[in-house]
Amino acid sequence: MAKCQLLGESSRSLADHVTGPKAIGGRLSVRSVIIRLMPRTTTRKLARQAVDRARRVRRRDETPYATHAPVLIALAQVMRVRRVLEFGAGMYSTLLFLNRVAFPELMEIVSYEDDADWAKRVALDAAGDDRLSMRTVASVPECVPDTIDDFDLILIDDSSSATIRTRTVLSVANRRPINTLVAIHDYELRELALATRSFDHVYCFRTFTPQVGVAWFGDAMSKRLLSQTESRIARHRTSLPVADIARWTTALHRQPK
Ligand SMILES: C[S@@+](CC[C@H](N)C(=O)[O-])C[C@H]1O[C@@H](n2cnc3c(N)ncnc32)[C@H](O)[C@@H]1O
Repeated sequence: MAKCQLLGESSRSLADHVTGPKAIGGRLSVRSVIIRLMPRTTTRKLARQAVDRARRVRRRDETPYATHAPVLIALAQVMRVRRVLEFGAGMYSTLLFLNRVAFPELMEIVSYEDDADWAKRVALDAAGDDRLSMRTVASVPECVPDTIDDFDLILIDDSSSATIRTRTVLSVANRRPINTLVAIHDYELRELALATRSFDHVYCFRTFTPQVGVAWFGDAMSKRLLSQTESRIARHRTSLPVADIARWTTALHRQPK
C-alpha cells in the first residue's frame, strides 16, 4: 500500500517538473491550466480516446454484441461455410449461422457454451434445427476439441471475461487448424490480439467497434480478399444497423453471374 502511494507521489512530481512553471519560465501555459482544472475522469477518458485513435478504434457501436454479424454474413460470400465451430452461443451467431438465407450452405454448427440457462434458451430459439449441436460445458477454453480442422469457420465469442476468451483463443491456436478461418469478436482488446500471435496471418475488421479479428494458418484466406470484403461492409456502415440481419444479408449478397 505504502509503495503505491510513493509511486503516485513521484509520478505527480515528475509531471509538475515537465509541465509546471519552471518549464516555461514561471508562467503557466493555458494547456497546463486546463489539464489541471479537468477532473481526473475526463483526462483519463481523453487519454483513452487518444490511444483508440492511434490504434484506429472507432467509437463503440450502440449494439456492441452484434458487430460481428455483418462480418460473418460477408464471409459467407467469399468462402464456403458448411461446418461451423462456435465458442459462445447467441442470437447473433448461432441463430445467424442457422439462417438459411445468410448461410445457405451450412450443414452443421457445433456450439460450446458455459452458461446452461443461456444454452437452453438459444437451443429453444433454434427450434429443433438438427444442424445444431449445443454442448454445455463447465469451461469453454478447457473443452476445445483436439481436432478442429474439419470446420470451415470458428467463431470465438465466449464468456464476458477477456481473460477466459483469451484462453479459448490460445487453445484454438495451439491446435493449428489448417484450412479453417478463426474469427474473434472484441479483437480491439489487446490481450485477445496478442493471443493470435502464433497464427500465420491476421486481419482485423475495424469498420465497427467491437472489432473482429480473423486469423488463419497457411493459405486458408487472403488478406486482399478480406480487405475488399471490408470495403463492401463499410459502404453500408452508416445506413444499416449492425443487428439488422435481413438487410445486411441483402446488401452483401452477391448476385450469381
Ligand atoms: C458475447 S456473448 C455471446 C454472444 C453470441 N456469440 C452471439 O453472437 O450472439 C458471451 C456469453 O455471454 C453469456 N450470456 C449470458 N446472458 C446473455 C445474453 N442475454 N446475451 C448474450 N450472452 C449472454 C453467454 O454465456 C455467452 O456465451
